[in-house]
Amino acid sequence: MNIVKVSSSKPYSVYIDRGIIDRLGEYIRSNGYVKYLLLTDENVDRIYGERIEKIFKNRQIKIVKYVVPAGEESKSMSILEELLTFMAENHFNRSDGLIAFGGGVVGDLGGFAAGIYQRGIDYIQIPTTLLAAVDSSVGGKTAVNLSSGKNLVGVFKQPKFVLCDPDLLETLPMDDFRSGVAEIIKYAVLFDGELFKRLFSKLDSQSPDLSEVISKCVSHKAEIVKQDEFEAGKRQLLNLGHTVGHAIEKASGYKMRHGYAVAIGIAIITRAGLAQGIIEEGVADEVLELLNVNKLPTNTLYPIEELLEYCKGDKKGHLESINVIMFRDIEKPVIIKMNYDELYIMLKQGVMS
Ligand SMILES: NC(=O)c1ccc[n+]([C@@H]2O[C@H](COP(=O)([O-])OP(=O)(O)OC[C@H]3O[C@@H](n4cnc5c(N)ncnc54)[C@H](O)[C@@H]3O)[C@@H](O)[C@H]2O)c1
Repeated sequence: MNIVKVSSSKPYSVYIDRGIIDRLGEYIRSNGYVKYLLLTDENVDRIYGERIEKIFKNRQIKIVKYVVPAGEESKSMSILEELLTFMAENHFNRSDGLIAFGGGVVGDLGGFAAGIYQRGIDYIQIPTTLLAAVDSSVGGKTAVNLSSGKNLVGVFKQPKFVLCDPDLLETLPMDDFRSGVAEIIKYAVLFDGELFKRLFSKLDSQSPDLSEVISKCVSHKAEIVKQDEFEAGKRQLLNLGHTVGHAIEKASGYKMRHGYAVAIGIAIITRAGLAQGIIEEGVADEVLELLNVNKLPTNTLYPIEELLEYCKGDKKGHLESINVIMFRDIEKPVIIKMNYDELYIMLKQGVMS
């Protein structure tokens, strides 16, 4: 088993192991909560609901299940309110816990609900997508979207622990698996040349080193969270590809997968970095090639003016400037503060017409 310790204000562990889900009862039992809100989405519930409920039943652990529709629409204020109301109606209090069993949507929604319900109850992350396993289940960022933009309301709330079973990814549709690979590429470009090389070979749910790859990403995230839990500085690096990515997600009406939008965001930054002489041609070619090899999209047809407007609404943006994450080479990321005219030029250089 791989265990990654996250040294945040409230330290916790991420347990990564194939088949660990069947030992869930042991991990849950030791926490001593009276009952759990099991939050999941309809796809995950259809595939794994019965199996999970049986694990709890065998251990005589009380759970109350709440199932949200699958997809980004569930990261909304209205679903959040319905969830909180359900918790209140079922008499949840601080001696109870919440389990976010699903992808990044369930994790972000569940973490936020746990962060604000009765001023905070404990929660556990059990990621069921690759994206959630390598990124969103760790680090304590939780949020829902507003019509004005992505992740605009949320809190930092670290989970009690994270239980990651790569076997659960066997049922994940290929598009969603690839979406997770985009976040892995992000970690590789930012911090890990070895991982970068590894990703030129096929990665899928059967890969013998999948737990290792997940563990590497989680370790990189843990290191960043240790240094900058509340994103005052270095944690911003994890937004590589995200400012433009969030704008693309918004332009698509949140229909495009998060990882796909991030992949396009990374490609745009890479081409712009090349045009500005920040990234060498060989490095830029390799990054774009890696996205291609992993069948990720690298361009968008949304108008640059529209993307610029959405970038201005991003939470990383200020009135007149925005921090954009760029890199000079693999493992050499930089934060560049630019005004919106400069961002417009960057988008023009990065988007292929
Ligand atoms: N909090 C963070 O630090 C952070 C980081 C990155 C991304 N995010 C957020 O994560 C979200 C995207 O997460 P996601 O890509 O996991 O999307 P998701 O949660 O919508 O899951 C993708 C799809 O896979 C299905 N699914 C989940 N697990 C499955 C399984 N094991 N088998 C079959 N189907 C399964 C879901 O029902 C859904 O249809 C975005 O909202 C993004 O903003 C948050």
